[in-house]
Amino acid sequence: MRSARDRDALGPPSPTNDAPLGEQLFLLNLKAYPACLGEAALKLGRLLEKAAAETGVPVAIAPSAPDLGRLAVTLNIPVLAQHVDAVLAGARTGYTVPEAVQAAGGRGSLLNHSEHRLTRAEVGEASRRLQALGLADVVCAQDPEDARQLAVVLPAYLAVEPPELIGGNRSVSMARPEVISDSVAAVQTVAPLTRVLCGAGVHTTEDVRRALELGSHGVLVASAVTRAADPARAIAALLEGFG
Ligand code: G3P
Repeated sequence: MRSARDRDALGPPSPTNDAPLGEQLFLLNLKAYPACLGEAALKLGRLLEKAAAETGVPVAIAPSAPDLGRLAVTLNIPVLAQHVDAVLAGARTGYTVPEAVQAAGGRGSLLNHSEHRLTRAEVGEASRRLQALGLADVVCAQDPEDARQLAVVLPAYLAVEPPELIGGNRSVSMARPEVISDSVAAVQTVAPLTRVLCGAGVHTTEDVRRALELGSHGVLVASAVTRAADPARAIAALLEGFG
């Protein structure tokens, strides 16, 4: 358990003054897809790194935890954890603490993904821990109201993803555009410096273009790349949406 002194040392959330991973962002989540582990994760990371160098679009990749360190020391793009636990570094077994992500070369972490939900208190705690270490927190929300409530932790990025569209072929930007515009407006009132990303079903150049038109700063994508027959082509099409 953390002592009151530990909590005080972290202090309240402080506004993020810059976009640590880019003003706009293409974030690729490899989840735990069997075809995206180990060597395959590195291969996908290299494809993304190459596409980013060619297009100038800011990108980041979130591999499974065992792959984070290897990708972080090999690639020239930011590598994020998919989750961190809001526990202090020390006598803990089986947890991923923010300090371990930093020591491995990671640049931040997703938090509260629909496939790894946390309590509000855990999100706040994990966010503060990442912020205190200078790591990027990408907090996930399910809808505009969830986004508004989670924005109080003043994350660097807040990614809104309707769970029912995750993993499908209908993009949130086409199927539920109001989720993006309403989330952008809601977050703006609480955390004006937080960049809003959107995700769920984003597959095409036009899906990305529309997401940006609706006010988001980027996209959080998985299956369009992780299940693609030609991942390089899929990445190129998605990054074209930023042009
Ligand atoms: O974290 C990305 C995400 O949940 C969206 O997944 O497969 O719909 O792009 P997908």
